[in-house]
Amino acid sequence: MKVLVTGGAGYIGSHTCVALIEAGHQPIALDNLCNSNPESLRRVAVITGCEVPFIQGDVCDEAVLEQVFAAHSDIGCVIHFAGLKAVGESVAKPLDYYRNNLLSTMSLVRVMGRHGVKKIIFSSSATVYAADNEMPLREDSKTGSCTNPYGWSKYMCEQILRDVAKADSAWSVVLLRYFNPVGAHPSGLMGEHPNGIPSNLMPFISQTAVGKREKLSIFGNDYDTPDGTGVRDYIHVVDLARGHVAAVDHLLRHSGEAVFNLGTGRGCSVLELVHAFEEANGVTVPYTIAPRRSGDLATCYADPTKSHTELGWQAQYDRVDMCRDTWNWQRKNPNGYDE
Ligand code: NAD
Ligand code: WQD
Repeated sequence: MKVLVTGGAGYIGSHTCVALIEAGHQPIALDNLCNSNPESLRRVAVITGCEVPFIQGDVCDEAVLEQVFAAHSDIGCVIHFAGLKAVGESVAKPLDYYRNNLLSTMSLVRVMGRHGVKKIIFSSSATVYAADNEMPLREDSKTGSCTNPYGWSKYMCEQILRDVAKADSAWSVVLLRYFNPVGAHPSGLMGEHPNGIPSNLMPFISQTAVGKREKLSIFGNDYDTPDGTGVRDYIHVVDLARGHVAAVDHLLRHSGEAVFNLGTGRGCSVLELVHAFEEANGVTVPYTIAPRRSGDLATCYADPTKSHTELGWQAQYDRVDMCRDTWNWQRKNPNGYDE
């Protein structure tokens, strides 16, 4: 099936293109390259032997979308990754985040509807869950009271898509809430290419190990967790990509709206991840303990039971795989796709 992948040149989108091709689908990527490099799609072709048709354009622009759907009348469903995702930047530039993330989703859904394509998978985030939930987080755990505009934009997009599915029973909407995506394709050809100083833990660890950063600051070691550092549910990007293929199968069999966690169900502390990275790769990651980062939770991890029972999906890669594959990518591509 032809699958339109918005944000297809990005970190998760490009890995999902590989997984779609491996499952026999034909991805088409639409991306404005505001946070990516088209080299990622050339790497998809090296890995799979299949070129991904690529359109450089903005998902907020209905005219661009009209052209895409007119040129590819047989698109069966859409995976909507395109969005801005930097939490700190969203606090500084809320309008940019609301405009891009909401307008892209609304424009996309309007044009899809006009072309009779009513199946969409949306990239949501564990950040939509309220801070006062018990762990692990289930899909029916409380949402809202987000701490930044990025999180609210995901929360609002979820609501928009739910309302669309409610208004027209021909729609099928899958909301995927990712936990902490990390890792890279095992080939070392594809991975995450953050702009500037990484705000996420894993790219900071790998850039420190490769010597690009002097040392990692661990934000707090006095949390109520086994070793005092923050606990998260890190998930290998290839597992995440496979989760989208399972969600495509689900879309084809169901209508209405469904929400799924994509996480491993296993919490991992900052120190555990640092030590796993050192052991898996035989490197040293210098670190220092710094104050807590504002807005951080002590612990956040998924209950992935629903994805297992209803999507037939389960994470397969463990912490060592995540660390090994991140390092393989980082070592082979110290400047990401810019080489
Ligand atoms: P990414 O920045 O690598 O990919 C997003 C892609 O969307 C980029 O290639 C960017 O150029 C493109 N894009 C942004 N706005 C666009 C627009 N208006 N039109 C066309 N293209 C546009 O990020 P990612 O990590 O691959 O994340 C993909 C999606 O998953 C995002 O929606 C993100 O919010 C969500 N998500 C990511 C994480 C994470 O930690 N990486 C966690 C939860 C959810
Ligand atoms: C993980 C842990 C930090 C950096 C964010 C977004 C979330 C989602 C995933 C998109 C925490 C600690 C980090 C560092 C550190 N993205 N840390 N030193 O905050 O769980 O989630 O990315 O949807 O919305 O908020 O991920 O990787 O930033 O942090 O000690 O330099 O690592 O305090 O405990 P987070 P993260």
